[in-house]
Amino acid sequence: MKLFTDQVLEPLTHLEGLTTFLKGTDEPVEVPDIGSYNTMSPQAREELNARRIAHLGSDLIIRTPQVRSVILKVVHLILLNGPRSSGRCGLMISGESGTGKTTAAKAAMRYVYARYRRDHPDLDRLGRVPVVYVEVPPGSTGKALAIQFARFLGLPVLPRDTLEYLLHLVSAGLIEAGTKLVVVDELHNLKRTNPGNSESVDVLKSLSNRIPATFVYVGINIHAGPYLADDRGRQVAGRFSLEQLANYGIANEAERNLWDLIVGLFEERLGLISHEPGDLAHSAKYLHERTKGSIGSLAHLLFGAAQVLIFTGSAPENERITREALDGISLDLATEFGGSL
Ligand SMILES: Nc1ncnc2c1ncn2[C@@H]1O[C@H](COP(=O)(O)OP(=O)(O)OP(=O)(O)O)[C@@H](O)[C@H]1O
Ligand SMILES: [Mg+2]
Repeated sequence: MKLFTDQVLEPLTHLEGLTTFLKGTDEPVEVPDIGSYNTMSPQAREELNARRIAHLGSDLIIRTPQVRSVILKVVHLILLNGPRSSGRCGLMISGESGTGKTTAAKAAMRYVYARYRRDHPDLDRLGRVPVVYVEVPPGSTGKALAIQFARFLGLPVLPRDTLEYLLHLVSAGLIEAGTKLVVVDELHNLKRTNPGNSESVDVLKSLSNRIPATFVYVGINIHAGPYLADDRGRQVAGRFSLEQLANYGIANEAERNLWDLIVGLFEERLGLISHEPGDLAHSAKYLHERTKGSIGSLAHLLFGAAQVLIFTGSAPENERITREALDGISLDLATEFGGSL
């Protein structure tokens, strides 16, 4: 089994990279039962196992209630904004680091792109770019932010270009591309009070006024930070609804039920031959202790455990994540490599 792949993915902040992601799917790999697996040739098994490992390490998005809520809110806003020429509303996805904000935005982008492609199958030929994704650079100035949009579209920019020119260039480009959804991630990078700060907010406001698209702002606790504290911020807040993400708790029954649901949703996507959803039901508390309720840590732990089980060539009847398996993951690898890790 190969450990390395030569595949290098373009970043989402470039049109090609985002398009590859948006056109991709996270359809599960079909997993055979034990009997069929045992009759497969070694080569076919290896191929299947490589696909399963790659799938677990790809952009696999679990449709948690939070992810569904973000998709639904984005769709509602797109409907609400329609062809309106001003006063468009947007969505803010806020919360601590690692709570799944970017992932939820990616799920919404994929959904919107798929719907757009259904309505406009020839979007590539028409040069349409229905979805745009940019990240705010640290300590961003207005110009640096405008340049991110230009780079995304592959528009040429020169150091001497003025902010006004860049805004014109970018908004003309986005209007021509028929952009419907703009996701601006890492918005907390605007947070620090520096001279470029309010200018960057103005760039966003100016773009959202010029481009008939729905805007989604994503960042660490952006709903609470100084970003919304001044007049301009309040103006933005008034038009944005909020999706706040947090680590999951298990303090009461409702929280425990939600956590159980999340664990179950992950179990459905492990692609292991002998693992059934519900097998980890008794380990939900243990999983919470290990991950502190972080979806990022849960994904890491469960997908990582599943990858290790497949990579180390476990017998199909042992391809099942148990509490013991989670405890012993590093042990298994160490054993396989004869203690040379
Ligand atoms: N719904 C999900 N399905 C699968 N994996 C998820 C999901 N949500 C989050 N993850 C995983 O958790 C990790 C953190 O998620 P993500 O990057 O979306 O968090 P974030 O809130 O954007 O963090 P940051 O504020 O640091 O940018 C990622 O590795 C991601 O793959
Ligand atoms: Mg993020």
